[in-house]
Amino acid sequence: MTKHTLDASPAAFKALLDKSRDMVLHQFQDLETQKAFHAYPQTEVASWFDEALPQVGMDNFELLEEVQQKVLNTATGNLGPHMYAYVMCGGNQVSIVAEQLAATINQNVGKWHLAPAISEIEKRVVQWGASMIGLDEFRSGVLVSGGSAANLAGLTVARNVFFEQKDIRKKGLFGQKPFVVYASKEVHGCVDKSLDTLGIGTDNLRRIATNSDFTINIVTLEAQIKADLAADLQPFCLVGNAGTVNTGAIDDFEAMAALAKKYNLWFHIDGAYGGLAAAAPSAKAKYKGMELADSVATDFHKWLYQPFEVGCLLVKDWKTLRRTYFKQADYLDTELEGEKGRLDFNEHYFQLSRNAKALKVWMSFKAYGAARITDMIQKDIDLARYLADEVEKAPDFELKARSDLAIACFRYTGDLATEKEIVAINAQLIPALEADGRVFITGTKLNEEFVLRACLINHRKTEATVDFLLDVIRDVAAGLL
Ligand SMILES: Cc1ncc(COP(=O)(O)O)c(C=O)c1O
Repeated sequence: MTKHTLDASPAAFKALLDKSRDMVLHQFQDLETQKAFHAYPQTEVASWFDEALPQVGMDNFELLEEVQQKVLNTATGNLGPHMYAYVMCGGNQVSIVAEQLAATINQNVGKWHLAPAISEIEKRVVQWGASMIGLDEFRSGVLVSGGSAANLAGLTVARNVFFEQKDIRKKGLFGQKPFVVYASKEVHGCVDKSLDTLGIGTDNLRRIATNSDFTINIVTLEAQIKADLAADLQPFCLVGNAGTVNTGAIDDFEAMAALAKKYNLWFHIDGAYGGLAAAAPSAKAKYKGMELADSVATDFHKWLYQPFEVGCLLVKDWKTLRRTYFKQADYLDTELEGEKGRLDFNEHYFQLSRNAKALKVWMSFKAYGAARITDMIQKDIDLARYLADEVEKAPDFELKARSDLAIACFRYTGDLATEKEIVAINAQLIPALEADGRVFITGTKLNEEFVLRACLINHRKTEATVDFLLDVIRDVAAGLL
């Protein structure tokens, strides 16, 4: 290493890259036997990193060895097939390569001329993502950090369009009655967070009752809109679910779109979990009417098998985004703005500096093809169905919710006699399974009842790994009895 730059010699850099490549390959060894969670106490993990700011650099190979021991060897097993918690996808190998290449060229995708190829690639993958799920009309959009950011962006646009209609951008909020947003009670918490952030207020999110399949009840929805109008409030936005986080429920978009039209409301769809599953043959029909939305949030770090982070907001034209996000600034103006076709992403999203998320998405689409990615989504859905069937057949489990997507909710019942005992053991199971670490699963509440929730969103899973999940739960439960 010279003193004039941070760079190593080409030979030393190559040796470092070779070593990191070996570490990547090592991570893929024996995926099926790797632990899904390593149960080190928090204080122990904190102690590994409890050191003062290094003033002098260390040998880079020793550093990689430290990363191997403290970070890679202890990582939660998202890569492997035993992760069922939340919505954790396993990533893919081409994106691992893409991330390294993207970091190498360090493009800033805020202005076109700072990243010409990546800017065009981002426009392209937004359209490919839309086209994969039959949303060809959604020709515009931005890559963002994930589903929460995509929903926040969609709701920001919705709010600003409404503000424009009411001339609020000029006159201010004075004297305005509260604006009201509608979604089913199963809506993801990021919508709450967004409404809080946007100043709409979480009290103004109407959580509409659901049908027995956890989809929004349209009759209740319309009755609530009417009641709010009668109370002189200002309904302005409907949020549909393209796959709820609890059970993968897909709302009736055609009915919601009809209400949006009737009452002049923005129609946003949260497709963070399930939007991309609209490509799957078994689920496609459920998504009828998704194209009627004004904005759709999707999440490529879920069912496009991308490593974190990358979500995507889709809208129908660039102007929709620009009218919300464009702000003039002298230091950003160039004489080049007039050149046709140069699209500056900073004018279409909140961030100025943006990384090249698009490269991994583009390389994945090209390397695997949309058809193979869709096959993997369908496989996840089929495996969730297999899990639900196995649970239903088993005398010691009880199925609580099946899904059109890849979630199954269930309880362990063993040969326990009372409801109280069943509730107790399922509550104890989550921490006990975490301590065991062979599989990683969490729970949720369905109609106030606690259930185990398995979400399958990893192309490395098989029927055998699903069997393993049930066997481990049985084994850990036996230790609790
Ligand atoms: C339905 C739904 N919406 C939004 C989100 C938030 O997405 P992210 O975790 O990428 O911010 C999730 C995450 O699981 C989700 O399932």
